[in-house]
Amino acid sequence: MGNGAKNSSKLKTFNSKLSPLPFMATILRDWSYQYQWVYDSFTRLAALSVGGERRFRQLALEGLPIAPETTVLDLCCGSGQTTQFLVERSQHVTGLDASPLSLKRARQNVPQATYVEAFAEAMPFPDAHFDVVHTSVALHEMEAQQLQQILREVHRVLRSDGYFALVDFHKPTNPVFVPGLTLFLLLFETETAWALINADLAAQLEATGFELMKQTLHAGGSLQAIQAQKRP
Ligand SMILES: C[S@@+](CC[C@H](N)C(=O)[O-])C[C@H]1O[C@@H](n2cnc3c(N)ncnc32)[C@H](O)[C@@H]1O
Repeated sequence: MGNGAKNSSKLKTFNSKLSPLPFMATILRDWSYQYQWVYDSFTRLAALSVGGERRFRQLALEGLPIAPETTVLDLCCGSGQTTQFLVERSQHVTGLDASPLSLKRARQNVPQATYVEAFAEAMPFPDAHFDVVHTSVALHEMEAQQLQQILREVHRVLRSDGYFALVDFHKPTNPVFVPGLTLFLLLFETETAWALINADLAAQLEATGFELMKQTLHAGGSLQAIQAQKRP
C-alpha cells in the first residue's frame, strides 16, 4: 500500500488539478486496438513500474487458490495477455471479450483456453458457473451503470464463496506518479478511466455482495489489485 497519509495534502492539489481535465485519447488508443504490438509494448513499458509484465499480470492473482481443476473466467481477456498466465495454473480457463479481433488473437496466442464472444454485462453463462473470475485493466473502460451491471454479472456467474480478482488504475497516492498516470490516461484513455480513478471500487464490490479480502496499491498507488469473495 502507498504512503497516502504523508502525501495527502500534496495529492489533493494534484487531484483537484487532474479531475477537471477533458478526456482526449489520441490516435495511440486506436493504434493500440488495431496493432497488438503497440498495446503490448506500452503495457510492458508501464509494467516496469511494478517489476515487469509477469509480476503485473499476476498482481491480482497472488495467493488465490487456483488449481488445475479450478474453473476460471478471464473477463475482457483482450488478446490473452493475462489468460496466458491463468492457463499455467488451471486447465479450465475461459476468456470472454466483446471484440472478435481480440478473440482471434487470443485463440492464436493462448489456444489452451476456451473463448466466448459476449458483453461482460450480459454473460452467456449459468449462475454459479465459475470458481474464479479475473479481469485486468478493463473495468476503467466501462460507463458507471455498465460497471455496476458487470459487477452484478460477475457475482451471478461466481459460485458461492468464489473469488473475483482484478487489477486496474487507481488514483496515485504518491504525487511522483501523477504525471506518468496523467500522461498515460491522456494518450490512451477516455473519461471512463478518469471516473474509475475517482470511484471507490472496493465499496462498489461490497455493495454488490462481495466481501473485500485484499486491496493492494502499486506503482505509487496508480494501480490497484483487488481480491473479493462472493458472500454466500
Ligand atoms: C484494455 S483491454 C484489456 C485486455 C486484457 N485484459 C489485458 O489485461 O491486457 C480491454 C478489453 O476489454 C474489452 N471490452 C471492453 N468493453 C467490453 C464489454 N462491455 N464486454 C466485453 N469486453 C469488453 C475490449 O474489447 C478489450 O479487449
